[in-house]
Amino acid sequence: MKSFQMRENIKGFEFGTPIDTEIIYGDKTYGFEELPMVLKFEDSNTYLKFLLGQDDRVYGLGPNMGGINKRGRRYEAYCTDDPLHHEDKVVLYGAHNFFMIQDNQGVKGYFIDFPSRIYYDVGFSDRDAFSIHIHGKDFTFYIIEGDTLNEIVTKFHKMIKKPYLPPKWGLGYFQSRWGYKSEEEIREIHETFKGKDLPLEGIYLDLDYMEDFKDFSISKERFPNFKQLVEDLKEEGVRLVPIIDAGVKIEKGYSVYDQGIEGGHFALNADGKPYVAAVWPGKVHFPDFLQEKTRVWFGDYYKVLTDLGIEGIWNDMNEPAIFYDEDSLDEAVTLAIKAKGKNLDVFDFFDLKDKFQNMGNKDVYYQRFFHRLHGKSYSNEDLHNQYGYMMTKSASEGLRKHLGKRSLLISRASSIGMHAYGGIWTGDNSSWWSHIELNLKMLPTLNMSGFYYVGADTGGFGGNCSGELLCRWMQLSVFTPLLRNHAALGTKPQEPYAFGEEVTGINRKLLKDRYRLIPYLYSQLLMHHRLGGLMFTPLSFEFTGREALDAEDQLLVGEEIMIAPLYKPNAQGRYVYLPEEMVLVNFKEKPEMMVLKEGVRYMAYALNELKFFLRKNKLMVYGEESLNVKTMRQDQLNVLGYVDTKANFTLWNDDGDSFAYEEGKVFKTKIMVEKLASGHYDISVNSQDEYLKIIKVMLIDSDNNIFEKEVEVSNLK
Ligand code: GLC
Repeated sequence: MKSFQMRENIKGFEFGTPIDTEIIYGDKTYGFEELPMVLKFEDSNTYLKFLLGQDDRVYGLGPNMGGINKRGRRYEAYCTDDPLHHEDKVVLYGAHNFFMIQDNQGVKGYFIDFPSRIYYDVGFSDRDAFSIHIHGKDFTFYIIEGDTLNEIVTKFHKMIKKPYLPPKWGLGYFQSRWGYKSEEEIREIHETFKGKDLPLEGIYLDLDYMEDFKDFSISKERFPNFKQLVEDLKEEGVRLVPIIDAGVKIEKGYSVYDQGIEGGHFALNADGKPYVAAVWPGKVHFPDFLQEKTRVWFGDYYKVLTDLGIEGIWNDMNEPAIFYDEDSLDEAVTLAIKAKGKNLDVFDFFDLKDKFQNMGNKDVYYQRFFHRLHGKSYSNEDLHNQYGYMMTKSASEGLRKHLGKRSLLISRASSIGMHAYGGIWTGDNSSWWSHIELNLKMLPTLNMSGFYYVGADTGGFGGNCSGELLCRWMQLSVFTPLLRNHAALGTKPQEPYAFGEEVTGINRKLLKDRYRLIPYLYSQLLMHHRLGGLMFTPLSFEFTGREALDAEDQLLVGEEIMIAPLYKPNAQGRYVYLPEEMVLVNFKEKPEMMVLKEGVRYMAYALNELKFFLRKNKLMVYGEESLNVKTMRQDQLNVLGYVDTKANFTLWNDDGDSFAYEEGKVFKTKIMVEKLASGHYDISVNSQDEYLKIIKVMLIDSDNNIFEKEVEVSNLK
């Protein structure tokens, strides 16, 4: 074991020969410190245990089931394609090995830099123990010290690369569905949104646009004028975002396949031949994204799409998902043939059924193919969690090269490190009420791992959505940076207009409200890109007391507002915990505000409203409603404030689609409000934003007095 120190209060312990995951950055000063806990090595595994006190809490571990406090469950870090997120699932698409433990001594952060499987038992088998089982002996273990949870998160963010920043249009509303099968259908959807006065930023294209599910192909039959379609829609401010899957169809004459073979770009089996698995198109090879030359080669393929005007991509099935491989299919078919004409008892029948039913994503598949990294060969299992990450890196670099500006990029599989290259959608959730709550609870955890451009399939992917469920989900999703309504093939229509006039009207308001919130949300992304820290903060990170610890279904969004979404059917309101005096904002065209004392209170929340809370002596900025980002007003903003003494707010903005922010080219607007002894307010606004001219301010004080004023912006050079 080698130990090292990184900056202040960050220690690392290197065991064996860790694989270079490109996650942690910074200078290391090597020393001889002992790990302050006991590790046990057995065969090729490592075991580690923390003792937990009665009220100790554990945070982090990425996109998983369960609460914000991770205690009481098991988790597995091993990117997996599982479309049914039942309550007892322990593993989903992401493998994020950052976590924090809070005990009565204080807080500590930990990161295990290891790209294969890790099991976490967080007080499940034994309530007083947090046991970790690492499937290997080569890893680096980091300990991050600090005074508060927020401080540790920020320190961790300084150890990893800066996060991916989408173009501003990435914050608009996107419509998606597996099954939008033709150019006509896409145009029709756009026309329907337009006709119904519903905002629309873009439409995601699922694999229906491809020819036989081949990456970088476009069906001539169903999308004969793809380029024209992209152009026509873009003119109206609407973009198309096609999907790209990890598996490349095996087909002679298909250039991606031919070049992949020729260039040695595919992952190999034990005999040194390209490994064969099956996904959507049938048999495929997997690009070996661990090789730099393959990342460049595959990344360049995105040019096929950018040349057609595409500026956004979703990378899917990159755990990688495997429906079956040749050996497993043979085994199952042989068993089925043997069973023909036989009288199968329960065990034989179950055996046969399971052979087919459990054929997807079997552990053994990931031992059967190999990657080349820095001149060495590793099985996929050895570095499994790097795969989706490296596919996204490939796409990110290819898109940057060929587009020359920012692109929208999301991935399904993820691990920390990928946060620098793309965002995440949380995969195949379902149209279940419990998944709204799950969506809410994942948000701060994803931020802890460095991911900000995140969101769930609003309305739910699997199963059928109702109008009520969609509206309630939207009341949460209007706050998530990625806002996309997506549904599975064969489910009932789920577009905002699919549930009759009343629901369409409610969705219209919510979508327009989303556009009003974009300046605030985008400012959050820019600011956190630079400074790290949480955009979605659990109440327990900011306030003390039992209620704050337990209020896991409420979140702070930025430092200014608190959301408390409703996630129960037939409810007209819910209980909310106010950790301090706050203003309840009913976000109508002219917002209604009311001061509420701290404590637990019932909040009426109708389906057609959008409500949130504004903290005391805080301001929040919002814009005007719009149908897309392109037509958003830039000369005027609104400010809501709850000010008894004074409050400041800095709004971050930039050009929205170049990389100039990397050189610090952001424009800040500083708003300062002070309540004078006379009861009047002193308001000043200084802005580096040349387009901004007027700010309409609406303030409330503790006595519910409302004050309104239009302020001219003095532009700073
Ligand atoms: C996967 C994706 C889902 C997509 C489907 C078809 O299940 O997670 O979003 O619709 O594949 O491409």
